[in-house]
Amino acid sequence: MAVAIAVTRERREGETRCAVTPETVKKLIALGATVSVEAGTGLGSSIPDNDYADAGASVKPDLSAVLAGADVLLKVRGPTASEISALKPRAVVVSLLDAWRDKATVEALRGANATAFAMEFVPRITRAQVMDVLSSQANLAGYRAVIEAAYAYGKGFPMMMTAAGTVAAAKTFVMGAGVAGLQAIATARRLGAVVTATDVRPAAKEQVESLGAKFVAVEDEEFKAAETAGGYAKAMSAEYQAKQDELTAAHIVKQDVVITTALIPGRPAPNLVTAAHVASMKPGSVIVDLAVEAGGNVEGSKPNEVVTTANGVKIVGWTNLPGRIAADASALYARNLVAFLGLMIKDGVLSVDLDEEILQAAVVTHGGAVVHEGVRG
Ligand code: NAI
Repeated sequence: MAVAIAVTRERREGETRCAVTPETVKKLIALGATVSVEAGTGLGSSIPDNDYADAGASVKPDLSAVLAGADVLLKVRGPTASEISALKPRAVVVSLLDAWRDKATVEALRGANATAFAMEFVPRITRAQVMDVLSSQANLAGYRAVIEAAYAYGKGFPMMMTAAGTVAAAKTFVMGAGVAGLQAIATARRLGAVVTATDVRPAAKEQVESLGAKFVAVEDEEFKAAETAGGYAKAMSAEYQAKQDELTAAHIVKQDVVITTALIPGRPAPNLVTAAHVASMKPGSVIVDLAVEAGGNVEGSKPNEVVTTANGVKIVGWTNLPGRIAADASALYARNLVAFLGLMIKDGVLSVDLDEEILQAAVVTHGGAVVHEGVRG
């Protein structure tokens, strides 16, 4: 029997993306699977049910029909209680689980005896780049953050010389130059902004400069050692944070647009922009806080709100920026999933080897237990 793959509609509020596209339906079938898709799955990404059917999927009316007998459930966000209770025992679930925070979903998956993989835990090794959903989604989030900023900003981004005089370029400061930040820099540059950027990892300096932006950071001894072996940032000392705060204060007052993307895996996001910094900015300035869901980089940012401060600064706090460019985000995410499934579907047979390096890093529940150390501990 072919491996039965199920894809249900996203049920978490505001989720517009989907875990499969007509293109990846064909690829999954080529792996030796059958694909069932719940009606309406692709609507937020402009994919009608018929397109799935044309690609070879069977479109079913509700989740119980889709999940009946399914070996594998694919999702963007973690499955809800109703989905988990409709799973057969030992089913494989692959999605973003937000497993550091969403303990209830992890517990429900454990209770259902599911083998659940969290795509956010796929290690950042070269072989896994094609499965790296954090990168594929962060890249689009960085792009979209600049588009949101441009929309909220009442002036133009490029310098324009007109008969009626010159329009100044927007001064844009990107805080955190990882995947999202680098794409934000590139996008803001394409729109004609004058871009500066900061990060605590020394490796970021060259990357920022190669995109034509100026690097602004406290480059002391601690900075030189701030990158972990995994390529991520460490939480910085109080002393470093005080120096960073001083530098930010002097720089931010001159900025029109600030985009913050700083994250530390498994910890709350660092607070980089204080209320005092915001109060020093010009009316009409815009801040986009990409880290809002992880606690925020900006004091006063609120999830899914555009806050206007007393001095007229707008703080944009969309939690799901990839979902605001859903068709592309779904296309990339779905391709990441096909590559990941390629590790466990061989010649039409599902065979999950949890000793395989990537699967081992991403598995969260298996055999009725929470097996991921970071989540369990
Ligand atoms: P992230 O989403 O965890 O964090 C975003 C950025 O915030 C990082 O650049 C981080 O250094 C920065 N940051 C953290 N604390 C900060 C602070 N206090 N002040 C200023 N900036 C701060 O990181 P992301 O985007 O996932 O990338 C991290 C690194 O991993 C990057 O070097 C990236 O190029 C690398 N990477 C490697 C891949 C591979 O396959 N080898 C794939 C994807 C990313």
